Amino acid sequence: MTTILQTDKLKNFIAGEWQEANPTVAVHNPATGQEIVHVPLSGKTEVDQAVEAAKQAQKDWSLVPAPQRAEVLYQVGILMKERKEMLSQLLTMENGKVLEEARGEVQEGIDMAFYMAGEGRRLFGQTTPAELKDKFAMSQRCPVGVVGIITPWNFPIAIATWKSFPAIVAGNAVVWKPATETPIMAYELAKIFAEAGLPKGVLNVVFGSGASVGDAMVHHEAIRVISFTGSNDTGRDIAASCGRQLKKVSLEMGGKNAVIVMDDADLDLAAEGIIWSAFGTSGQRCTACSRVIVHEKVKQQLEERLLMKVEELTIGNGLDKTVQVGPIINRQGLEKIKKYVQLGKEEGATLLAGGEEWSSKDGDLGGYFFAPTIFTDATASMRIAQEEIFGPVVSLISVTDFDEAIEVNNQVAYGLSSSIFTKDVNRVFRAQRDLDTGIVYVNAGTTGAEIHLPFGGTKGTGNGHRDSGVQALDVFTEWKAIYVDF
Ligand code: NAD
Ligand code: ALA
Repeated sequence: MTTILQTDKLKNFIAGEWQEANPTVAVHNPATGQEIVHVPLSGKTEVDQAVEAAKQAQKDWSLVPAPQRAEVLYQVGILMKERKEMLSQLLTMENGKVLEEARGEVQEGIDMAFYMAGEGRRLFGQTTPAELKDKFAMSQRCPVGVVGIITPWNFPIAIATWKSFPAIVAGNAVVWKPATETPIMAYELAKIFAEAGLPKGVLNVVFGSGASVGDAMVHHEAIRVISFTGSNDTGRDIAASCGRQLKKVSLEMGGKNAVIVMDDADLDLAAEGIIWSAFGTSGQRCTACSRVIVHEKVKQQLEERLLMKVEELTIGNGLDKTVQVGPIINRQGLEKIKKYVQLGKEEGATLLAGGEEWSSKDGDLGGYFFAPTIFTDATASMRIAQEEIFGPVVSLISVTDFDEAIEVNNQVAYGLSSSIFTKDVNRVFRAQRDLDTGIVYVNAGTTGAEIHLPFGGTKGTGNGHRDSGVQALDVFTEWKAIYVDF
């Protein structure tokens, strides 16, 4: 194996020790199909061990003053910064996203470390006037105890930091199940935490499938919070189980994000924003633009610009500096995209670009690639304009005015990200009010949210919680009201 990874078999990280677990399964580089590492398929036994370790560690950790807990995050941030290039290359290797995007993702994690470390000095409560005399009333944030974190493969390090950093700075202990497709980032982050001085047991990583490890976490009575990012079906099942146990659950799920292009828009800027939001990470972002809602007056001009840009995109292995669009995560993902493209044709949309599996001219890449694909003449109710495809496929829907554009944007089950290109300030303010999504962009594509604002969405995207920003602390803390009579 010729990678910068130090091992060919990953181990769970429980109670500060690296523990072997069997059986294992091979993880493949999606750009080449080559085996890169083996990851354990753990089960309930390992989850029980991790929860026990977390329970043991959490009490002492919660008594460490929050600014000192934050010191560990500063160290984590410093180590991530030092290792940024290595982490980015490993991320590209396991996930496929092009190196520049991998660097961006690792940077999100670094930013989160320093941001959340700052929050360790600002875990503010309130003092309030009491109704009665000689009584002092105040509130404070308290850790919930042991928290479970379940993460997807598409942002294997950033999403882990959005969840574990606020959990840890707030005084909780964590049991984390990363996606089996992308375990290397979890392994590297656990190593960094250990080197940064995190006490044993405060962070535990258990590798394995959702059906075994994930399910055991969801049903473990000592885990008081589940913070999940992933697909809608899985999230709904988890929420139902948590509901029955009165367990707090935070869900961050899919999107069907749109860019609106009005007749007064800067069309070059809009085309650029659409291309990067639709085809960056090969469309495998929860925030990816998969619909373009375009004013009929500028539809043709926008199509021409998009066509020109899509033809210039270079596809291939993300480690190659000239490549702009990497692979699809696996065969299953590729087949799902193919199915939707076929469906789009059957539904009557017009294929403008792409539409098929991509392979290099000399056929030397063994991975899973799909050509960036543009449909036009789609309608708002078509399945390609309603369902999350999670691939490089975008559909243009034309509208006659601003009100119709807003209506079409909101006519989907999801509500994560949206964007509008216009020069009209009144439209900007109306759009930011009326777009039913958790994130709104003006004159930029639908992707790229930063970590200091709340990240998440409305409707089928989630259940009202947010990753990132100070709001992330709400998931990992309980409020306590305290009255002192004197
Ligand atoms: P997924 O739902 O298949 O898996 C997500 C995680 O859940 C994985 O770790 C998986 O092993 C685990 N899991 C699966 N079944 C489980 C079960 N029964 N119990 C407990 N855990 C279980 O999703 P994915 O394919 O890895 O990720 C892609 C999805 O994630 C897309 O829908 C995307 O939109 C969404 N996503 C959302 C956000 C957001 O913040 N809104 C961010 C990134 C990705
Ligand atoms: N920050 C990433 C985006 O917004 C998740 O696409």
